[in-house]
Amino acid sequence: MAFVVRPYVPGDRAEVRRIFAETADAGGPIEGFFHDRELAADLVTGPFLDVEPEWSWVAESDGKVAGYLTGAVRTDFRRRWKVAVGGTKAFLRAAGRRTFWRRSTARMAAAGFLTFLRGGATPSVLRRYPASLHIDLDSAFRGAGLGRRLMDCFIDQARSLGVPGVHAVVRGDNRSAHAFFRRMGFVELARRPYYFPQGNALRDLGVVIFGKTL
Ligand SMILES: CC(C)(COP(=O)(O)OP(=O)(O)OC[C@H]1O[C@@H](n2cnc3c(N)ncnc32)[C@H](O)[C@@H]1OP(=O)(O)O)[C@@H](O)C(=O)NCCC(=O)NCCS
Repeated sequence: MAFVVRPYVPGDRAEVRRIFAETADAGGPIEGFFHDRELAADLVTGPFLDVEPEWSWVAESDGKVAGYLTGAVRTDFRRRWKVAVGGTKAFLRAAGRRTFWRRSTARMAAAGFLTFLRGGATPSVLRRYPASLHIDLDSAFRGAGLGRRLMDCFIDQARSLGVPGVHAVVRGDNRSAHAFFRRMGFVELARRPYYFPQGNALRDLGVVIFGKTL
């Protein structure tokens, strides 16, 4: 198969969001813990694709998006403000879909609250690793070197801007992704509690924060 890795363009948005939803549960579909793909994609991919899309990359196979890396390098107030506005609009759209009446949303909100109470906040060490990224490939395209190619593109781009470091937050039970990040030269910076709904229970699957100095 012939693959191309290229900068993200707005026409990729729907496919990137689809792949995000198909892989959000440690590589499997998001419905494993939450029902509203639109809201989740708005909140997770929106801060990258809608605020600073120039740092995102896609891998393509025969004209079809096979995977993506969404990156962000800015941490200024202007970015935080845009992310907050985007998040508020996403919640309003979700209210229109009556998402907040669903049990799945209540479980997700409870998991978020429990995470907050147990100190799942971002550690201060991230000041040295200000750039952030998410990376996901459609299941058919994993293990073929695309993850490395996407990562190289983003790392080169961030390095050329003088960004001191980059970080990624990975679910505690996603051992395959941990192995990938270590292979890419990332080191474990911290572990934090992070609750996810699993059936009717809330489980602390945790997150591992990986960082790489550039
Ligand atoms: C994690 C992911 C992005 C990796 O991309 P990939 O294309 O499968 O990885 P690559 O083939 O480029 O592998 C790059 C290197 O990592 C290593 N690696 C990748 N997965 C590995 C694993 N499960 N165990 C050990 N090493 C692994 C490869 O051996 C390779 O090393 P090498 O280049 O020195 O030979 C991809 O598998 C994926 O999308 N998984 C599901 C979603 C996910 O978990 N995303 C991360 C959430 S933050």
